[in-house]
Amino acid sequence: MPSFNIAPIDASFGAVVTGIRLATVDDERWRELHQAWLEHALLIFPGQHLSRDEQISFARRFGPLEFDMAAISNVKSDGTLRIEADNDDVVKILKGNMGWHADSTYMSVQAKGAVFSAEVVPAAGGQTGFADMRAAYDALDDGLRTKVETLAAHHSLHYSQAKLGHQPEAGSAYSGYGFHAGPVPLRPLVKTHPETGRKSLLIGRHAHNIPGLDPDESERLLDELVDFACQAPRVYHHSWSAGDVVIWDNRCLLHRATPWDMTQPRVMWHSRIAGDPVAEASLN
Ligand code: OGA
Ligand code: MN
Repeated sequence: MPSFNIAPIDASFGAVVTGIRLATVDDERWRELHQAWLEHALLIFPGQHLSRDEQISFARRFGPLEFDMAAISNVKSDGTLRIEADNDDVVKILKGNMGWHADSTYMSVQAKGAVFSAEVVPAAGGQTGFADMRAAYDALDDGLRTKVETLAAHHSLHYSQAKLGHQPEAGSAYSGYGFHAGPVPLRPLVKTHPETGRKSLLIGRHAHNIPGLDPDESERLLDELVDFACQAPRVYHHSWSAGDVVIWDNRCLLHRATPWDMTQPRVMWHSRIAGDPVAEASLN
């Protein structure tokens, strides 16, 4: 029995964890949390109010970080807001996040997961959605399951952002991340989780151009899979309160932001846990 409270949410995945203070988790407690994370794929910790250093230290327990702490925010450094009409590189990235995706599948090593927290939340909207790609794989009909087993897709941020009309401005530090000129990673549509052995669909907005299919057919199949996968009971949208922390398993979930009125501030903090250099490597 874990020493904290763990209440599964009403979905195929996810649990709310209370009775634990993440800032002071000891090794024994962390091992229990890690087990719970592998099982539920998404853990939600209300009201933690972690400091920057506490969030980074907690995230590091899950492995080396791809990056320590990035602001996912429409507040500029001078305190003014980026609104939708600005449509600058940052707004375009924030809007891009509103499509279902897994993080860093466009890098040669996709992310393992993320510790993500809310500092400032808008009065309405701005939930984060999560979708269980293990349950989605399990729910495929036999024909489609057999078909996807043999397929792979390219993953690129150039591709997914260009679909929204976004060509990043040269030299923009924020939107520079992920817009690399290296090989476009090729990833199987079915990923086996390196720690649980469970299979899941690896899809989302960065995926395109399945070798062996023509581009239209590829897009149709990928759209069909996302539409099917991201439905009840496989989805959960978290309505944030300031101070909430979640950790998601990027090896078996998709996630997305949802719209909010950008005349209101939304400040989230993302610590991205690096994937295993072998298990999360692309095929190419
Ligand atoms: C991310 C992301 C969603 C959100 O930070 O990678 O997709 O709700 N964020 O802001
Ligand atoms: Mn993301």
